[in-house]
Amino acid sequence: MAITPPWPKPLPYTANLFRRLARGWTSWFGLLNEWDFRIALGELNLLGLRVFLVNDRALVRRVLIEEVENFPKHPYTLWILEPLIGRAIFSVNGEEWARQRRLIDQAFQAAQLERVYPAMAAATDAMLERLDQELAQQPDAMRGAVVDIEAAMTWVTADVIVRTILSRPLQADEAREVVEAFGRYQRRAARALVMRFLHLPRRWVQRSLQRDAGVIRRWIKGVIEERLAAPDAGGDDLLAYLMAAHDPVSGTSFSAEELVDQVCFLFLAGHETSASALSSACWLLALDPSCQQRFWAEVDGVVEEGGLAPERLRKLDYGAAVFQETLRLYPPVSFFIRERQSTETTLQASRCPVGSLLTFSPWVIHRHEDHWPEPNQFRPERFLLDGSTPEERRLSREAWLPYGLGPRKCPGAAFAQQEALLVLAELIGEYQLLPANEDIGPEWVGRLTLRSANGVLLRLVPR
Ligand code: HEM
Repeated sequence: MAITPPWPKPLPYTANLFRRLARGWTSWFGLLNEWDFRIALGELNLLGLRVFLVNDRALVRRVLIEEVENFPKHPYTLWILEPLIGRAIFSVNGEEWARQRRLIDQAFQAAQLERVYPAMAAATDAMLERLDQELAQQPDAMRGAVVDIEAAMTWVTADVIVRTILSRPLQADEAREVVEAFGRYQRRAARALVMRFLHLPRRWVQRSLQRDAGVIRRWIKGVIEERLAAPDAGGDDLLAYLMAAHDPVSGTSFSAEELVDQVCFLFLAGHETSASALSSACWLLALDPSCQQRFWAEVDGVVEEGGLAPERLRKLDYGAAVFQETLRLYPPVSFFIRERQSTETTLQASRCPVGSLLTFSPWVIHRHEDHWPEPNQFRPERFLLDGSTPEERRLSREAWLPYGLGPRKCPGAAFAQQEALLVLAELIGEYQLLPANEDIGPEWVGRLTLRSANGVLLRLVPR
């Protein structure tokens, strides 16, 4: 029997835009109305700005794939992220983006999943050690302990990405300082977006983000400067591949300043999203004991073949389906935005002038009645050959976009999947996951990524 995990339900319609913006102040979910989950295309006029919510599958393909050049990333993406990541790949457009993408793709190809696996495994072992120590401090360790799994997942994913980029672990004091600064940046960035909608000046809005961005940038800049001063000191890591990448089209490589921007972005992209996905996955496994049992049995079978390794992780079909279904129900990047450029066009019957803002929301599309049967149910079988119909599989190909679509699609998807399966497999191999409190669940908020305002509390019981 499939469960329907709680989620922040959209609020009833209000024509009052200021009330809607106020609802979106702490979480952008507040901007949504109930019927946004039923319509193909939503539109409104926000203080002179034409805003569309695109849910229709054909329109999603048209904008993100077929006519991608006329729908670049919206400048708001740059404005809210610039203090932190400068002009890194995620928010720029045109040739500036294409050159960076060629360099990043080259570095990712060199880094390969097998090569980054030891860094992932070491970070996962360190996570298990920290959890063991936490449990050992409990008066009755065998009964388990309540743990904020979101904090644990944030640390382990930040550690994975630091080890992958820099060949060294994340220190405890760095973890605290940098991860806390990221948390504050996230909260302020959500508000900054609302302030931009209200036409507050860009510089003013960005100033509210500068302090926390500075903490993270100073740390990353220091590490990169050390490496540039002694290039041989580094290991076989992503920073070495980023430094070595050379673009055959422009004949250039990343400058020192660009490296800081890219590493800041990869640190953000590489841990925030995975931490969000892993916290939701752990919570769902805790809510659904039969799903957890089936995943655990699968992991056990693979471990018996000789332990976990990249090629054996790929055999975890059910585990992969659990992760895909988690990304469907709780997509870490719950919305992204584009801008109409060049010429006016129409979207279905609606006029779409140059400068219009188009929103794509995996959060909405993944829970939309037109795309998914019983959209709010947690049913990993949707993603298995023997658990779904051909029609369901076709829908899941077209209406599943946690990593985006088209040329701007996330290049870190395979990395994220390997990391998630390893962390989840090791975690449920050691502990049974139970909800800490049946009545109080996570309070999901939509910021830069999907996070819980009150952590994700689980009871971990040693197996
Ligand atoms: C579950 C984990 C992840 C999710 C859900 C995710 C999601 C996304 C999404 C939705 C985009 C595109 C947004 C848009 O079109 O506007 C994106 C872009 C990107 N992601 Fe990820 N991501 C994840 C993990 C990672 C990891 C681990 C890395 C690197 C180690 C990474 C690197 C990037 C990069 C470089 C881009 C920019 C691509 C471009 O603009 O060409 N991501 N990600």
